[in-house]
Amino acid sequence: MGPAFPRRRLGVLVSGRGSNLQSLLDAVLSGRLDATIAVVISNVADAYGLERARRAGIEAVCLGHRGWPSREDYDRALVAELQARAVDLVCLAGFMRIFTPVMVRAFPNAILNIHPSLLPSFPGLHPQRQALTHGVKVSGVTVHLVTDDLDAGPIVVQRVVPVLDDDDEASLAGRILAEEHEAYPQAVQLLLEGRWRVDGRRVVGESAPQA
Ligand code: GRF
Repeated sequence: MGPAFPRRRLGVLVSGRGSNLQSLLDAVLSGRLDATIAVVISNVADAYGLERARRAGIEAVCLGHRGWPSREDYDRALVAELQARAVDLVCLAGFMRIFTPVMVRAFPNAILNIHPSLLPSFPGLHPQRQALTHGVKVSGVTVHLVTDDLDAGPIVVQRVVPVLDDDDEASLAGRILAEEHEAYPQAVQLLLEGRWRVDGRRVVGESAPQA
């Protein structure tokens, strides 16, 4: 059983420059992504992602993470902001916060994250640096559903990127980022179209019912 997203309303969470948010905005504008970006929320007041949202005429909300009694309280506030806008799919786009179960329970199989490595290799911080240090010959991007375990949820889309001999962290990150901008709209559209389910750790397609 794959959850449907009947309202097709996205909430995008950012902490920084928001280039992946931009790829989603562009995909909606071009019609490649049949969805509404209902709100963009950041925990960082001067995140450029908020500016991108405003320029696109989309509501931009800053919800700072400091001063809350607990991480659960912050997550409860986040859930309230998203639910107030009838968001049914949450897209993390460089959102540098780890959720408590409060957020994950509120949106089961309805939070997506994008990570610049081929998970399960190189979770966490600086995945491009980890890839170079390890000496892998390919890396890439993973879009996955968010569970309680960091960077470990069921994988929706992956794309492979070569690691070149003369790469440094910046050049590898740039090559991966170009693929991120294709992979994220593709993964969101795929989920919105339905006909998928989570089978163990796998996201698998469901064939249409036979007539
Ligand atoms: C991207 O590399 C994304 O994969 C990671 O954080 C970075 C965010 O970049 N989770 P941007 O803010 O979308 O430009």
